[in-house]
Amino acid sequence: MSVLEIKHPLVRHKLSLMRVSSVSTRSFRQLAAEVGALLTYEATKDLELEEHDIEGWCGPIKGEQIKGKKFTVVPILRAGIGMLDGVLDLVPSAKISVVGLYRDEETLEPVPYFEKLAHDIEERMALIVDPMLATGGSMIATIEMLKAAGCTSIRALVLVAAPEGIAKVQAAHPDVDIYTASIDSHLNENGYIIPGLGDAGDKIFGTK
Ligand code: URA
Repeated sequence: MSVLEIKHPLVRHKLSLMRVSSVSTRSFRQLAAEVGALLTYEATKDLELEEHDIEGWCGPIKGEQIKGKKFTVVPILRAGIGMLDGVLDLVPSAKISVVGLYRDEETLEPVPYFEKLAHDIEERMALIVDPMLATGGSMIATIEMLKAAGCTSIRALVLVAAPEGIAKVQAAHPDVDIYTASIDSHLNENGYIIPGLGDAGDKIFGTK
């Protein structure tokens, strides 16, 4: 498995705008989608193409199309919704598989409360989207849900990742590649990524 920190200038610029404490809901939401699109561009760079015949303006020519696997985008509720539009801008015909998890107060483990997956998920590449890879608990639980449904090709797209979360996901699911705009310093005692973005869900939905 690999972890890819996307160092493209546009990604770095946009992520820095998101880190400004006074960023508006509107800007944060738009930037989350834009960085989501840029991560999708990177996460789909190695897809295989196949030739096919098309009718061009000057007659029959060879065209190219992505071979085999189609996509399902998997936003983890609620913050993952904030990256969804950006991903769909690049893969507009993807099916959307929504996953929701809550944290059990006693065990502190994520527990699924919502799961509506594409019916043919075993034939699709899943692009999980969640702005923050913090402890890794939700990501691991989501990967397990997808694998239990037969999905064999999974990539995770996160705006910001903590080294602790990356290590946990890597240990549990070495076959899942992670694409992130930034690997930040560490988690604080409350499970927030430092420097991070703060509460990404609240900032996307304007609930704070
Ligand atoms: N979830 C967030 O929204 N922010 C963090 O820093 C960690 C988890």
